[in-house]
Amino acid sequence: MNSITIIRPDDWHLHLRDGAALQAVLPDTARQFARAIIMPNLRPPVTTTALAIAYRQRILEALKINPVRPDPFGHAQDRLVEGQSGSTGSPRTEAGFESYGFEPLMTLYLTDNTSADEIKKAKFSGMIHGVKLYPAGATTNSDMGVSDLGKCTAALEAMQAVGLPLLVHAEVTDSDVDIFDREKVFIDRHMVPLLQRYPSLKIIFEHITTKEAADFVASAPSNVAATITAHHLLMNRNDMFTGGIHPHHYCLPILKREEHRLALVKAATSGNAKFFLGTDSAPHAKNTKEAACGCAGMYTAHAAIELYAEAFEAADALDKLEAFASFYGADFYGLPRNTEQITLQKTSWTVPNELAMGNESLVLLRAGQQIHWKLI
Ligand code: NCD
Ligand code: ZN
Repeated sequence: MNSITIIRPDDWHLHLRDGAALQAVLPDTARQFARAIIMPNLRPPVTTTALAIAYRQRILEALKINPVRPDPFGHAQDRLVEGQSGSTGSPRTEAGFESYGFEPLMTLYLTDNTSADEIKKAKFSGMIHGVKLYPAGATTNSDMGVSDLGKCTAALEAMQAVGLPLLVHAEVTDSDVDIFDREKVFIDRHMVPLLQRYPSLKIIFEHITTKEAADFVASAPSNVAATITAHHLLMNRNDMFTGGIHPHHYCLPILKREEHRLALVKAATSGNAKFFLGTDSAPHAKNTKEAACGCAGMYTAHAAIELYAEAFEAADALDKLEAFASFYGADFYGLPRNTEQITLQKTSWTVPNELAMGNESLVLLRAGQQIHWKLI
């Protein structure tokens, strides 16, 4: 197969950051995806509807004012096509929507103090599509996260009542639990009790990385789904260490053994609607990754759909890419599917080493190496 045309995809888990970083990374996502679920782990975190709406406004502004970055990839020309409409069925009256066809879907950051009122406000804003649970200390900017799920009863009950999904970073933080086991242990300690206590709460098990998580989601009721990143489909934990340590392959949840990667590929390509695309593209400046204590997060937005295409092709399952990337997430979130299409061509191209991010730089996944599909 030399090319593949699919309905324009959505990214159901994305870090856009703010300020100069937002300006730098947003075009990469907007070029490929119609919509993205925007993670709320800013500093300070997006804990209220008012903060989420203000952040959404900054994203729309960035879409509007973003110059077409000199494009080392040679495939971003469509970024400013006038009148190109996204087609999510939602109103696209704000500046930026028409020209980029990209819609940010906002989330709230759950804390021990999130009130039921705040949840209702979020739901009725129509702009907030989920609430993110970061166990305190689990990952980047999670220190204001949840210390004890027991403190979130009011918020979780309200979410269940109004139909606002819970997006879970599913890793325990106990220092006596091995980093490679943190997801698996979270299932028994927290996921199972959560489902029992809130049987009709929509739960998205974010960026699953283990066979245990894939099995859990597959056998859970229909209100439970999962996102899968491209990097966890393409790499295993050896990729952090082969020939020396690779800080740009460090993310959370951490890359796992090959058997887990294979289980994720199987889940993503199974045609099971519970598994859908979420890049978890997480930009960090080069100097904070290449450091004595480097940040967790991989930047993949520059080639997201191409990387997924590679993973699906390797599994001989390109025919399953469209539903995974463009249908199942929208269905689970109760949003209309997109209607425009994108085309990917089987062409090898070399990923540039870095991208300017304000005064800093960002190292791209596969920097200096080839990717074998290209969005045209
Ligand atoms: C994310 C980030 O940098 O915000 N990092 C990561 O390794 N994935 C946070 C997260 O999703 O865990
Ligand atoms: Zn993330």
